[in-house]
Amino acid sequence: MSDSLETHEHDVVVIGAGGAGLRAAIEALAQGASVGVICKSLLGKAHTVMAEGGIAAAMANVDAADDWRTHFRDTMRGGKFLNNWRMAQLHAQESPERVRELEQWGAIFDRTEDGRILQRAFGGHTFKRLCHVGDRTGLEMIRTLQDRGVQMGFDVYMECTVVRLLKDGERVAGALAYWREQGRFVLFRSKAIVLATGGIGKVYRVTSNSWEYTGDGMAAAYEAGAELMDMEFVQFHPTGMVWPPGVQGILVTEAVRGEGGVLRNRLGERFMEKYDAKKMELSTRDVVARAIYTEVREGRGTEHGGAFLDISQKPAEYVKRKLPSMYHQFKELADVDITKEPMEVGPTCHYMMGGIRVEAETAQSSLPGLFAAGEAAAGLHGANRLGGNSLSDLLVFGRRAGLAAGQYAKTAAPPRLAAGDVEAAQREALAPFGRSNGENPYTLHRDLQVTMQDLVGIFRVREDLEKALGELEKMKERWKGISVEGSRLFNPGWHLALELKSMLTVSEAVARAAMMRQESRGAHSRIDFPNTEAAWGRKNIIVKREGSAIALREEPVAEMPEELKKILAEEK
Ligand code: FUM
Repeated sequence: MSDSLETHEHDVVVIGAGGAGLRAAIEALAQGASVGVICKSLLGKAHTVMAEGGIAAAMANVDAADDWRTHFRDTMRGGKFLNNWRMAQLHAQESPERVRELEQWGAIFDRTEDGRILQRAFGGHTFKRLCHVGDRTGLEMIRTLQDRGVQMGFDVYMECTVVRLLKDGERVAGALAYWREQGRFVLFRSKAIVLATGGIGKVYRVTSNSWEYTGDGMAAAYEAGAELMDMEFVQFHPTGMVWPPGVQGILVTEAVRGEGGVLRNRLGERFMEKYDAKKMELSTRDVVARAIYTEVREGRGTEHGGAFLDISQKPAEYVKRKLPSMYHQFKELADVDITKEPMEVGPTCHYMMGGIRVEAETAQSSLPGLFAAGEAAAGLHGANRLGGNSLSDLLVFGRRAGLAAGQYAKTAAPPRLAAGDVEAAQREALAPFGRSNGENPYTLHRDLQVTMQDLVGIFRVREDLEKALGELEKMKERWKGISVEGSRLFNPGWHLALELKSMLTVSEAVARAAMMRQESRGAHSRIDFPNTEAAWGRKNIIVKREGSAIALREEPVAEMPEELKKILAEEK
């Protein structure tokens, strides 16, 4: 290992500084661990802020009948029963406490008349359950966690991207990263690592995700030998902006529908009646996204290929108070006054239900020393996530991951990293500079996004998936020939070239798992297998690296205890 390689050592390194990463870091600090937080972007700039409409927790402030059992049942039903039931139970039981804690740390929520945290309706939740701050809930959560963490004293490494996890035998014990600005490598030695790197949205052309979300954490865990799970389940949020083109995909919060917004097609029909007459606009996201997609495909879409979402029947002052960001977003980006006119919206890739397979109590992956939480981890949401359950997921399992990582670090031996591994990772990362006249990473990224959007999107069918897998094989070859120009000093082309490796890995996992699951369930809709099959409801698809190949296998879902089965059978 070169003497000049900048090196940092911590008990726990958290990769990712969104809600899950920050909550994990706070808990690891509380265990007495020294904690380093690595963020690819600036601290506080995370997809967490895109969970705008609220955090789901059965506080029963607005609907007194709510309780953890109902939240558990809603989450399992929304996830089409493929969820890790223990995670769903812990999540429903612990969310209220996590919200109260956040409030004690300074989060300011909207209030009921009598001063309790206000809760609103969201799709798939039986009761008004989403604690919120207008339509800026994720932002308030990040602000609060950031203040708390900085006060407690974690070290922050900003604009720093991890390229490889490093192992000491079978355990994960470090990471190689580079500073985005300088292009210099930096080594982290750590007894435990928490991955909280978020999702994979940038593999799709239309997405609410920003540039950071390229599946890095999932791909790094996979390369290190950890198992991934449920990769076929990608969530398309029903309502993203569709016009003008430059803002396509930007999120239009579900809170618009939670506050009474209605969906109509070009003909003025309130089309949700056809798809879910009972829940209408507050049906689950998979159902609403498919409904909008179908209306457009069958020729009833708006001028720009979406549906109308209208909240203008509510008083203007109410709309501005409840949905201030939406009001400004449409006014500034689309010149639309949502208090007077409908918005044009359509599905946008928003969230990944699949990810790193973890153990429910500790959030530990299948590799010792490696933990994962938030969108990077799989299990809680099953085949489809309910809106608002991501923020509560981040708090509940971020805390559990930080706790377990902190405790693991107390007894783990100091990490030993092999110089050869570090050097090999550096060589691979620098390879695109050594080629001339190779392909430009931007063209490859564009082709990947088109392939995933068109062939592995909301509706899937064998022929498309086969075609996508063929294209992905070719793209993997093309990636080997990518070249970048210029120096290592802030070089976005080089950054993208490295991210493309992760994006190709996770895309292949999504397409292969989508091919393997021969049924439709939640967010995974197969035109050639339209039914939900009981047999598939008892199986998760696990993805693991074998040599240089990707291997998939089915694994039975763990048997649920009788008392939880009873809760699922109850009707409310
Ligand atoms: O629509 C929204 O506000 C998003 C929430 C979520 O993804 O949980």
